[in-house]
Amino acid sequence: MKNLIVLKHPLIQHKLTLLRDRNTSSKDFRDLLDELSTLMAYEVTRQLPTQNHKVRTPLMTAIGKIIPGKMLGVVVILRAGLGMVDGILKLVPGAKVGHVGLYRDPKTLRPVQYFCKLPPDIPKRFLIVVDPMLATGYSASATIDLLKKAGAKNLVLMCLLSAPEGVRVMKRLHPDVTVFTCAVDKRLNSHGYILPGLGDAGDRLFGTR
Ligand code: URA
Repeated sequence: MKNLIVLKHPLIQHKLTLLRDRNTSSKDFRDLLDELSTLMAYEVTRQLPTQNHKVRTPLMTAIGKIIPGKMLGVVVILRAGLGMVDGILKLVPGAKVGHVGLYRDPKTLRPVQYFCKLPPDIPKRFLIVVDPMLATGYSASATIDLLKKAGAKNLVLMCLLSAPEGVRVMKRLHPDVTVFTCAVDKRLNSHGYILPGLGDAGDRLFGTR
């Protein structure tokens, strides 16, 4: 599929397997998700434009490349997306961070928005929307809807783990948005959880139930 990129790097796949393990503690889960987010961000930012930049080495002048400033934004889907922010900011510390709060209506599994605070200059930024789990795809597509309404033109979705159902929803509703993920699992269960998945990412991150 054109707008789906599955990241197969051995380090990513190794850490994802450890993350899935039910015996992985919250602390290790947080650390692994942080490392995976850094590795994913490295792949997601591969296409960023650069410009020439003159720099003086101890020996002479060199022309290097830099990523122009004020370009990046990370939009976190609360709450599990919080576990991915620091890992991304390690690579792009200047990125501005927005937050979108959605909860899933337990009956319809549709997202209901309760919070939204976005960085300035949305139309100018390359936006990375982050949520570890692309399950039904409704939260991600609702977030992308609101970003497009705010003028976003250049955005990608970064999800650690995806269900085929969510990938299909993204393809149908936002075919222009590339989805970066580390695996597409089998399917959703009747509660909207990814199988085999890793359980509830928010609960595993924060030690709640
Ligand atoms: N959200 C989660 O945390 N886990 C899933 O499997 C699906 C949605």
